[in-house]
Amino acid sequence: MWLTNSSIGRKVVMSVSGLFLVLFLTFHMCMNLALVFSPEAYNVICGLLGAHWYTLALTAVLAAGFIVHIVYAFWLTIQNRRARGNDRYAVNVRPQGVEWSSQNMLVLGIIVILFLVLHMAQFWFKMQFNEVASSMAGLDGEYLYHDDPHNGASLVITEFKNLWVVVLYLVWLVALWFHLTHGFWSALHTIGFNNNIWFNRWKVIGNVFATVICLGFAFVLIALFLHTNIEGGILGWNAADWLLNK
Ligand code: HEM
Repeated sequence: MWLTNSSIGRKVVMSVSGLFLVLFLTFHMCMNLALVFSPEAYNVICGLLGAHWYTLALTAVLAAGFIVHIVYAFWLTIQNRRARGNDRYAVNVRPQGVEWSSQNMLVLGIIVILFLVLHMAQFWFKMQFNEVASSMAGLDGEYLYHDDPHNGASLVITEFKNLWVVVLYLVWLVALWFHLTHGFWSALHTIGFNNNIWFNRWKVIGNVFATVICLGFAFVLIALFLHTNIEGGILGWNAADWLLNK
């Protein structure tokens, strides 16, 4: 089949799956922004996204998107290296006009995925997976891995009151930013948005978009840290007090 047999077909699959993941990230960042302003509102959203049939179906689609993107990334890299043979070792200097991120997409992607595994263990495992596993184990109102899988706000606030967790996430976001800036532009280029006028415009749009997504996540982390660690909190509520009153 064209999408698996030809090099351009595989690039199209990489691009479409990448753009799908960008859509998810945009939604995920917007959802997390709600927590900065109201933990109650955030928990309502978490409730809607709990272990319902529609969210489990969406999680399966999302997981498939990640798997396809990762498998094709390795596939294309191996194919490119085979095509270049030993030549790839001949030049170590980056050609002029070629971005650093474009040459390091696989490494950046691997860093993003490693952090993602930690992130899933930190939140998704204790929430959605916990709900599903506990109900499959026949538990009613009790949970295997965390007492309160519906209280996403309390889980997230508890994690981000630690400075080192915030710093680790910021490192993750830097890797994600580099990956997205090149990925977004390259994906649009592959699927045909590549006429001369728009070549540079898409680059700028991709950079702005990646920056907005990563700054949005960073804002959530820093705001939650300040909510807990500044006396009286910010924006009229204090996360430490909110946890105590739960
Ligand atoms: C401020 C930063 C972030 C916060 C507070 C946050 C919070 C959360 C929470 C609470 C969950 C569990 C939701 C549930 O199971 O119902 C979750 C799931 C997830 N997060 Fe994040 N997240 C952040 C950043 C990111 C980033 C940067 C990525 C990707 C690079 C990401 C990817 C995911 C994925 C793939 C899931 C699983 C989604 C699903 O269950 O369908 N998150 N996140």
